[in-house]
Amino acid sequence: MTPRSDPTPDEVRQKLVDQYTEIARLAGALAHEIKNPLSTIRLNMELLGEDFADASSQRERRALHKVETVQRECQRLQDLLDDFLSFAKAHRLNLQPSDLNRQVRQVLDFFAPKAAETGIEVIDYLTADLPTVLLDREAFHGALLNLLLNAEQAMPGGGQLVVRTYVTADGVALDLIDTGCGMDGPTRSQVFEAFFSTKRGGSGLGLPTARRIIEAHGGQMKLQSELGHGTQFTIKLPVPARLPGDAEPV
Ligand SMILES: Nc1ncnc2c1ncn2[C@@H]1O[C@H](COP(=O)(O)OP(=O)(O)O)[C@@H](O)[C@H]1O
Ligand SMILES: [Mg+2]
Repeated sequence: MTPRSDPTPDEVRQKLVDQYTEIARLAGALAHEIKNPLSTIRLNMELLGEDFADASSQRERRALHKVETVQRECQRLQDLLDDFLSFAKAHRLNLQPSDLNRQVRQVLDFFAPKAAETGIEVIDYLTADLPTVLLDREAFHGALLNLLLNAEQAMPGGGQLVVRTYVTADGVALDLIDTGCGMDGPTRSQVFEAFFSTKRGGSGLGLPTARRIIEAHGGQMKLQSELGHGTQFTIKLPVPARLPGDAEPV
């Protein structure tokens, strides 16, 4: 019998990657399984809430209050599961030649009503004629929206959000600069960890998901922030030397 040699570092790494992939797959499946009974609970709570809508007695009002609490917590679970599912699937991308400015504008249009409601002035400097990048538009939209929602939550009393795109030495970049609450050192060093959140009811998955999506595009996401002054996120994306099929960017 030939003696078994110790596994090489590459084999050890591969085994860990396989184990991680399997756990991520199971966790994703579990999240899906939880969503179905959860929506049944939500639906029934909604119906129960309607039954108590015109509560007249003290007892009925107390019951309605409890129903509302359960509804709120169900919503929280639902949001957490949705965030977790986008975190778990962040690596499967459908890349298409895209115009970064156009994609940024679409997300900003989507965000505009929320910004107006919170008193946030969005100022954009989108450099014209950027080179075409490869994007999974849905995933990119989600990543950017997470950053915009964080900026909004960091400026509850309103503020400014500067959005700019430009060419770099090795690709294109996007800056998002807010005048919000900013972060202290310990917060800055943990924000990309899954489930880290300083918000009540926060999932702590927005930034880790956004970063994973950008890295899956071959890009990078950087953060600068100062407590009480504001926060800047920079997303860098590579520009491919050749585009698949020389397709027109959208
Ligand atoms: N623009 C920002 N300004 C200040 N703090 C931020 C900003 N974006 C993120 N953070 C901090 O990073 C934490 C993690 O963000 P995220 O992963 O999106 O989770 P969540 O928004 O659910 O807390 C937030 O709880 C907050 O402390
Ligand atoms: Mg968030």
